[in-house]
Parts: sequence; C-alpha cells; structure tokens
Amino acid sequence: MACASADLEFVLNGKPVQAGGIAPQTTLLDYIRSQGLTGAKEGCAEGECGACAVLFVRPGPVGTVYQSVNSCLVPLPAASGQEVYTVEALAESGELADPQRAMADGGGSQCGYCTPGFIVSMFACQQSGRELHSDALGGNLCRCTGYRPIRDALRSLGPPRDTPLRRRLRSAAPAVDPVEYKSAEGSFSRPCDLSACLKLAAEYATARFVAGNTDLGVMTNLRHERFPHLISLEGVPELREFEDREDCVEIGAGLTLTEIEERWVSMPAFFREWLRLFASPLIRNRATLGGNLATASPIGDSAPLLLAVDAELRICGTTGERVIPLHSFFRGYRQTALHRGEIIRSVRIPRPLPPLVRFYKVAKRRVDDISTVAAAISLRTGTARVGLGGVGPVPLRAKEVEAAIVDGFDPERVREILERTLRPMNDHRGSAAYRLAMAASLVEKCFFETGAGR
Ligand code: FES
Ligand code: FES
Repeated sequence: MACASADLEFVLNGKPVQAGGIAPQTTLLDYIRSQGLTGAKEGCAEGECGACAVLFVRPGPVGTVYQSVNSCLVPLPAASGQEVYTVEALAESGELADPQRAMADGGGSQCGYCTPGFIVSMFACQQSGRELHSDALGGNLCRCTGYRPIRDALRSLGPPRDTPLRRRLRSAAPAVDPVEYKSAEGSFSRPCDLSACLKLAAEYATARFVAGNTDLGVMTNLRHERFPHLISLEGVPELREFEDREDCVEIGAGLTLTEIEERWVSMPAFFREWLRLFASPLIRNRATLGGNLATASPIGDSAPLLLAVDAELRICGTTGERVIPLHSFFRGYRQTALHRGEIIRSVRIPRPLPPLVRFYKVAKRRVDDISTVAAAISLRTGTARVGLGGVGPVPLRAKEVEAAIVDGFDPERVREILERTLRPMNDHRGSAAYRLAMAASLVEKCFFETGAGR
C-alpha cells in the first residue's frame, strides 16, 4: 500500500487510522497519546526507559511476531502501512493479558508510570516463545517498584493463550511499502529500491537518511532540531541482504540488530554477547548496523568490534560502488568518508574470524546505555587488533598497542602507549584520565581473562 502524499494510513489496535497535516518528525508516541491512548508514556524521549513501548506486527524468522519498540523513536510516517498495538489493546474481552495479571498479582507496579512499557516488553517476549529471561526487559526502567517482582512476573508467564491477538499471528505481517509524505513542515520518503533511494538523495541535498532513528530522534525530541526531508532506509531490500560466505560474512547495513542475530545462524559467541551489551531488544528491533556506523559517534558500540575483526564497508552512490576498510571510514568528529548522497550498503567481516575476540563496554548501566569507553581486542597468531571507542573524536584502532602486544602482554607498556597516543575527551560520562585508565584496564582484562600471552 503506497501512501497518499498528504495522508498516513496504518492500523492501530486493529482499526485503520488516517493522519494528515502532521509534521513528519511527530513521533508515534505523541500521535497515539493525542488519540487518547495514554498508556504509553514519555519518560526520556531518547530510547532509554521503555515507558513508551508499543508493538509492531512484523515478519519474524518463522512466521509473524509482535515486536516491541520505543514509540518515542518512531517518526509517525514510519508507521505508515504498518500494524501497531498499544498496551490498551492487550486486555481482551474484559480479561487482563497474562503479563498484566502477573504484574498485578505479584505487586510489580507502584506508581505505574513504567508499567505499560514493561507489560508490552513482557507480552512480546511471551508471544515470541523465547526464554522468559530478564534480558527481555533490558530497555525498561522502573524507578520505584524494584525489579525483583517485575522479573518474577515475567518468569511466571506460561505459554501464550489462544486469544484474538494470538490468532493474529497466524497471518502475514504488513509489508514495508513506499511512502511519500509531505506536510507544511517537511517531507518523509520511504523508497523501496536502491536506485530510487539514491536518486532521492541526489535530488534533495539537505535530506537526511534515517533508520532506527536513535540519533536523529534524540536531536528531534530533545534538541528540537528539524530536518526538512527524511529518507527512510527501512524499505530498501538491497540494504537488507545477508550472506555467510566462505570468504566473509556480509551484513546488509539496513538490517536491524535483531534481524542480524536471526539471520546469522552460526554467529560466534562474542558477537552474540556484543549484541546483548549493545542495546535492549526495544532498540535492537529498529536500530541498524549501518546507522550506528554512519552517525560516526565516537561512542557507537559497533565500531570497536568491527575494527577488531578488520571489517570493510561496501558503499554505494549514484556513480557506483566502492569498498573501504572500516579503519579509514572515520575522518573526524561525526565525519566519515561518505560523499554526499552515498550510503553504506553492507558491512563485510572477512573470514576466517580471529580465534580470540573480546568486547568490553564501560557504562553506567549494563545494557541499553551509552558507552563511556568500549574496547574490542582480537588475537590470532602474529596479529592483534585493538578497537577503541570513547577515547577520542572517532572510534579508532590503537595500532601501536597492537604491535606491542603481539609478542606478549606488558600492562605498563600498554598504559604508556595509550597515555602518549590518545587524547580522550572530558565530559559528564568520564574524565580523560578515567577513560585512559579504562582503556588500559580493558586490554589488560582481555589478557587476564583469556590467559593469552602467558
Ligand atoms: Fe523513554 Fe521512549 S520515552 S524510551
Ligand atoms: Fe513507578 Fe515503575 S512503578 S516507575
């Protein structure tokens, strides 16, 4: 279903809705609340608390699934043609949904501000058939109840019951179709093939690409920046390819972190652990690898690991394609090697993968937080790679440290090199001295944990 230029159509709690004359940066959260569906709350407006969680009906690895997302990071036009459920829809025929009943019975809610978000995350987890593990709640914060009864409520859930919402999963999820939405305050395009996408980018010099919206969404919601034209990459199939070949693993830049985990069946343990630390399911369900790299944040979590495994980027534009090593991609604070109108098509990770890889993240919160410092270390005979984030204006490889640790690990030597070669920032997350100490300590931790170099 291609959307008319002045109107957005989607299914909300089982009923078709139409919205027009709305600024494209309006969030799905603001829209649903304006419709009287005030269960979802705004806690942080930047993807950290999960109070705004809602469900999208999406294709899963096997059949249709409910996918929980932070509605504060979904621009309303991105919901076009989709099917969305809010917490209000979960109780059916006057009967509470299982997570609601479990939370009520177990005292999992006090002020209740966070509760709808927790219920939505629990519902998605129960319906998915995945393990009822507290990781499913990693994106939800509660400030007053305490997590024990909430976790217990999740663990007490049985298999999903046969309800109308359960039966909805027997049929296909809506497709992601092209959208051209315009309002007086800006435009939103969702092209569904690569050439249309690149053409649009060439046509609109000021257009910004958007995928998971974890970066632009924060600029929009908290800094009140406005972008006259957003081009969503969500519907471009060429960015959603995945291939596990003999020479490399090639990951489409537009695949969400959740989809990468689903498609990479033989994903090594270090990659799986990295995904878990990267972000909560609420973020992983929409955020993409390409987005994390293209924003060039010095504290993005993908770059250190991908630098440590010698990843390359396949970049495309209207004039063709090129492949560059990731270590030459970051050119300065928030600057990359992308030319105007170019996008990252895929990330290539060469095989064989290093036999020993570790990823560490220092943050105030274990999952779903921004790194203060992140480090990834890979070791194979005769080579080492050390990818670091949070220690300079760009994610980087500590090449002098790499050379020094090949023949054995000397913590004093590593510390001396890092202190001499790095110039970390001082900010509210950590002082320069703290960041340096953490970087050295994470390299040391790798050797301590793995026994490498003994
Ligand atoms: Fe906090 Fe959306 S309001 S994640
Ligand atoms: Fe009050 Fe969770 S019940 S914030």
